[in-house]
Amino acid sequence: MAKRTIVSMPGDGIGKVVLPETIRVLEAAGFEADYVHADIGWDFWIKEGNALPQRTIDLLEEHKIGLFGAITSKPKDQAAEELDPRLRDKGFVYSSPIVGLRQHFNLDISIRPCRSFPGNPLNFIRRKGDSDFEEPKVDAAIFRQNTEGLYVGIEWTNPPEHVRTALDTHPKMQKFSHIKSEDIAISTRIFSRQACERIVGEAFRYAKKFGYKSVTICEKPNVIRETSGMMRDAGKKIAAEFPDIALWETNIDAQMMWLTKNPEDYGVVVSGNMFGDIVSDGFAGLVGGLGFACSANIGKEVAVFEPTHGSAPKYEKLDPSIVNPIAMVMTACMMLDHIGETDISAKISKAVADVVVEGKVRTYDMMRMPGGPKAIEQGAATTQQMTDAIIAKLG
Ligand code: NAI
Ligand code: MG
Repeated sequence: MAKRTIVSMPGDGIGKVVLPETIRVLEAAGFEADYVHADIGWDFWIKEGNALPQRTIDLLEEHKIGLFGAITSKPKDQAAEELDPRLRDKGFVYSSPIVGLRQHFNLDISIRPCRSFPGNPLNFIRRKGDSDFEEPKVDAAIFRQNTEGLYVGIEWTNPPEHVRTALDTHPKMQKFSHIKSEDIAISTRIFSRQACERIVGEAFRYAKKFGYKSVTICEKPNVIRETSGMMRDAGKKIAAEFPDIALWETNIDAQMMWLTKNPEDYGVVVSGNMFGDIVSDGFAGLVGGLGFACSANIGKEVAVFEPTHGSAPKYEKLDPSIVNPIAMVMTACMMLDHIGETDISAKISKAVADVVVEGKVRTYDMMRMPGGPKAIEQGAATTQQMTDAIIAKLG
């Protein structure tokens, strides 16, 4: 098979640590690929007024598969202050490059698997009687609609007159009619039937492929009747094509409670953009949190794989680094599965599972320690030691 080219986008902070470490694992596992570096993140905002330069988009257009570390985002005012003085007042406005990538390539399917590794001291446990506990096995995959809903950025503070006029056609706007526009903020939540059916369809196909017994549509149709209702309709329509898979429905608020009661009951969970973000963090917390949470952003042509965590600025300067590379390594496994390299992916996941169950090498998060330079003196492994341990188990 022709050698793959992977677009490597380390980004900012610990993205610059965990991505190269992961490439070390991929190479040791025998995955043959060329990596082309692509610029993304805060440095490019400061220097060029664009955190997602066109040359990065071009590389992804050409090679289709990207591995992304993390980026730093800062509030509007701070972004403006840090911009190169020569670029100020020229109309540059900061926007998140990862959200930009999802929009540009229509990476509408976000998959966030949350599976507990046996032996992970961060796994969720449940009290059983007064002195005993049990550790249910969590194996959920969250499907988050990635390009619509509340994160699209169709929003205003001080909405223009024609927006208000349009909204005033809704009887419930009367409640706001006495409020001045400058005192009103509006963020829209728009769903399309096509996108709802695509995310639900992908979720059911995934459930079938990997043997999950249920797909749960997690929204809030009892209150947000139109958009959540459309996702619910998509669930009913698509479920009819999969008679062996149960269709469940939950409301996001109740789901957040239930996932800490009976997380083992859930398989594939589907939500819109914002609720998907919330419920996937909830499940990730049950299986080790940010050091373990991996994700994929998949479109029809391009796919970008990223850990859920951000750039963790407070640890970016630590040398040696202390952050857990497992989230990024498992992200790379999702990439391998996507491109059909399932054997190498399985080999790497098994190596990670072996390191976790053995319990000899643990990063600070796995030891429930505060992070910082002292973590290593207190017995935490460095990022590099964790990578070495995974590589050693590849066999
Ligand atoms: P964060 O995920 O960067 O870090 C939060 C905390 O989680 C860290 O301080 C650390 O204690 C822990 N943590 C994160 N990754 C870890 C790892 N691999 N191993 C061990 N512990 C880990 O989120 P935060 O602090 O809210 O945001 C920091 C910056 O990252 C911000 O600028 C934010 O905008 C950005 N961000 C970027 C994301 C992305 O690139 N997709 C996602 C989330 C935040
Ligand atoms: Mg999130």
